[in-house]
Amino acid sequence: MAEIFEELNPPQRLLMGPGPVTADPRVLRALAMPLVGQFDPAFTRYMNEVMVLLRQLFQTGNRWAFLVDGTARAGIEAILVSMIAPGDRVLVPIFGRFGHLLAEIARRCGAEVATIEAEWGTVFPPERIIAAIEKTRPKLVALVHGDTSTTMAQPMDGIGAACRRHDAFLYVDATATLGGMDVAVDRWEVDAISAGLQKCLSGPPGSSPITFNERVAALVNGRKHVEQGIVPAGFVPGNGPVIRSNYFDLAMLMDYWGPERLNHHTEATSMLYAARECARIVLMEGLEACFARHRRVSAALVAGIEAMGLALYGDISHKMANVTGVVIPDGIDGEAVRSALLRDFDLEIGTSFGPLKGRIWRIGTMGYNATEKNVLFCLNALEEVLRRQGFALSSGAGEAAARAAFGAPGAA
Ligand SMILES: Cc1ncc(COP(=O)(O)O)c(C=O)c1O
Repeated sequence: MAEIFEELNPPQRLLMGPGPVTADPRVLRALAMPLVGQFDPAFTRYMNEVMVLLRQLFQTGNRWAFLVDGTARAGIEAILVSMIAPGDRVLVPIFGRFGHLLAEIARRCGAEVATIEAEWGTVFPPERIIAAIEKTRPKLVALVHGDTSTTMAQPMDGIGAACRRHDAFLYVDATATLGGMDVAVDRWEVDAISAGLQKCLSGPPGSSPITFNERVAALVNGRKHVEQGIVPAGFVPGNGPVIRSNYFDLAMLMDYWGPERLNHHTEATSMLYAARECARIVLMEGLEACFARHRRVSAALVAGIEAMGLALYGDISHKMANVTGVVIPDGIDGEAVRSALLRDFDLEIGTSFGPLKGRIWRIGTMGYNATEKNVLFCLNALEEVLRRQGFALSSGAGEAAARAAFGAPGAA
């Protein structure tokens, strides 16, 4: 007998974990727009518009800014596999799970990986990274900006300049910060960077915005090999080693996104619509206004959490503006709290990984979700569930402190 199940009808959750977060309805509408062919002039125009929008989001004059189809990890892999040739030395400063991910991907690309580590919940003083660059002399430094696993954001001052001085490339993983915190590609002298839609850009997972500069384009084009069957007349392949992935080959992707429009994959039509809308939404609000909203909402959440007698995780002076780590109090079953929030309030918050699994909750206030109303709802729901678990709280303290931080009239 055929198994066909019922028509999809997912619950309406408020997603306030570390991502994906609730998508903006404008993005969901964009996803429902009619499909057109990948070389339809309407579609190639949208591709070009996406490039213009992404340059503004990334604050860069780079010619190359486009989407890699797949989740944020796809953008990371495309950049690393295209830049790293086997035997290249790569330095990865690790201050959380996603630094380990960069090291792991670099190793799979055949790199000789050197790592330095900062204790989880802290970041590196930039001088420590700069000293490691001087000592290791890598071809590439791969660095996470905001590591959602620990909720910490790495200060970037001077790191790009040090890479230039020592003839290294700088790649940054801004998956979780683009659109929510200042990500200034040109000012930071970043060579290549990638992000995801499902955090501060208020979209679904499945498309990864990236940008890279001419230094990277020259490196990658030096390894350019085009598939048999679509090779243009007179094409001369690069001298460098073949990029080990076809799907993530940035040289071929440049030909697809550039005026050559040389066929590669079939661009994920609906995800491109979504990414275009995500970028428009942030730019319509204005980058600075959007960053300020994330900071304001984060400060109010922090005030509420502290007023409830809960402890924040890590070095708060370096906390990301869009994710907050909360230490699960002794005697409280963190997973039971998360389940109750989901079951009784349709509210999702996260836990963390590895050494932090079951030790902290992570609350995301990102993009469409970074609002006063959501912070107050989350604090009240958490209070109710914690009280049921026997945690002593003074009623309404979290909400009052958050309201005061928001500067609400009549707030305590
Ligand atoms: C900093 C960082 N890098 C990479 C990723 C991986 O992204 P994805 O799951 O979209 O592939 C995440 C996801 O949470 C992240 O927060």
